[in-house]
Amino acid sequence: MMAGTVLSGRRFVVSAGPTYEDIDPVRFIGNRSSGKMGFALAAAAARRGADVVLVAGPVHLDSPADVRRIDVRSAAQLHAAVLAALPADCYIGAAAVADWTPRAVAAHKLKKTDGTDALALELVRTADVLADVASHRPRPRLVVGFAAETDDVERHARAKLERKGVDLIAANRVGIAGSGFESDDNTLVVHAADGFARTLGPAPKTQLADALLDLIQERLP
Ligand code: PMT
Repeated sequence: MMAGTVLSGRRFVVSAGPTYEDIDPVRFIGNRSSGKMGFALAAAAARRGADVVLVAGPVHLDSPADVRRIDVRSAAQLHAAVLAALPADCYIGAAAVADWTPRAVAAHKLKKTDGTDALALELVRTADVLADVASHRPRPRLVVGFAAETDDVERHARAKLERKGVDLIAANRVGIAGSGFESDDNTLVVHAADGFARTLGPAPKTQLADALLDLIQERLP
């Protein structure tokens, strides 16, 4: 397919996939993100001619054409890679970044100690990549977040939009079959700071990526 040019000269940074927070050399805390949604967005932006940097957590997906891919593992690495890729015209945070990480990574595999049937892990908050991008100077012209929710999707998504200072937030329901994590299809409800809301889908993530990019293009100054 011929690449489009409508976004040529625009720089996009897209994050995708999960992060893995190591506990010891063999164990980690992860999540169910496959990277499909973020990779579809990076591919769609590149097809429209944007210069795309894709910061990817650990996923089993081939790189989209004409995209510069940076592989990371942890939330801290994703944070550093995204901020290093700025300045950009648009940041899209589709990655499922861990909110918590072990305070320390054990140097050796944790052993089952005789007489102990519980293990307490101390977790500390990770940096919020999306909020840090939204307050970065120079700020991307458009900062787009996702909200992965199991309940009260609209209320939680609008609260995240405001708390994180983003321009658009794409809310999706997780924890059910056929949307959110891992599936090929999804439904997005996109909210903007000015009260705008639009439902996209249900549809394959590849189609949703194009529909979300249409909204992004309309709002990209
Ligand atoms: O990867 P797939 O299997 O295709 O699934 C797609 C998806 C469900 C992962 C995707 O559509 C999605 O919802 N991504 C965001 C997942 C998430 O972490 O949502 P959240 O509601 O916990 O976070 C809100 C926003 O803050 C997100 O843009 C997230 O990238 C960002 N965030 C969160 C925590 C953190 N420390 N830094 C962040 O930047």
